[in-house]
Amino acid sequence: MLRRILLAAAFFLSPLLTSAHVPYLDDYNIHNSYGSAFAFPDNIYSRALCTTTRCPPRTFQRNSTSSHTGGYRKLWSPESWSKVYLQAGENLHFEFGVPHIPALEYPSFRPTVYLLGKCLPSPDVFGHPKPQEIEYPSFDLPPNYHFKALRFHLADPIWEPTKFHERHLGATFLSYLNYTVPVGCDGYVYIVVETYEKRVVEFYVAVGKKDEFPPYENTDGIASIEDTKAWADGDIPGVGRYCQKKGIWERE
Ligand SMILES: *[C@@H]1O[C@H](CO)[C@@H](O)[C@H](O)[C@H]1NC(C)=O
Ligand SMILES: *[C@@H]1O[C@H](CO)[C@@H](O)[C@H](O)[C@H]1NC(C)=O
Repeated sequence: MLRRILLAAAFFLSPLLTSAHVPYLDDYNIHNSYGSAFAFPDNIYSRALCTTTRCPPRTFQRNSTSSHTGGYRKLWSPESWSKVYLQAGENLHFEFGVPHIPALEYPSFRPTVYLLGKCLPSPDVFGHPKPQEIEYPSFDLPPNYHFKALRFHLADPIWEPTKFHERHLGATFLSYLNYTVPVGCDGYVYIVVETYEKRVVEFYVAVGKKDEFPPYENTDGIASIEDTKAWADGDIPGVGRYCQKKGIWERE
């Protein structure tokens, strides 16, 4: 019976999602640390983690979380984490972008995106614009993890977005990063988005290239078209409710 429901759900969703990322909504940025990273189920099917951030607590300072390490979920952090397992020789296809809404119009929203992994290639394979390899990222990592970190600093004017229309959602997005990255050994590659906005913002991280709904898959966590469209329109209810009380604007 369960299998039949799942098949029916897959059948129902697949015509809608052909040539779109399979969406997962993170309305409250719960995937905000190493230990709570969202795990993409595979590196094949095109899927997107669609994040909405929350307002930082009034007392938050950049240096006030530095004593915490990963391994548990933080109540608030300026990061969003996702990860995908790759085998040696596989390519990671990943994208980063934002809904094209007035609050996130280029160039007002300029986060920093990192790729972390044990066997990432040299920045040179990325072509232009290329990321920077950095030794110490600004966020917490568990001790003794020897990750290479590549930083895409979107505040640099070379990172200009491409506008595209997603016809299944009827929404427009700005795509900032769109790369295929050869990975040299088995293990997780992490994608970290770091923002310091004192307002609510949305963005997506997508992996995988195959624009199809995965067959026979559990549909847990996959968001509906309606909810994803509301997210893309900057319209998630209640998310900015406490921002203005704290003197932080929900939108600008
Ligand atoms: C933390 O940051 C605040 C201002 O942002 C600064 O005044 C304070 O000295 C910093 N503390 C440490 C330990 O770096
Ligand atoms: C990403 O790049 C691929 C080619 O590598 C292209 O087909 C695709 O349209 C690009 N996506 C976006 C959103 O720009």
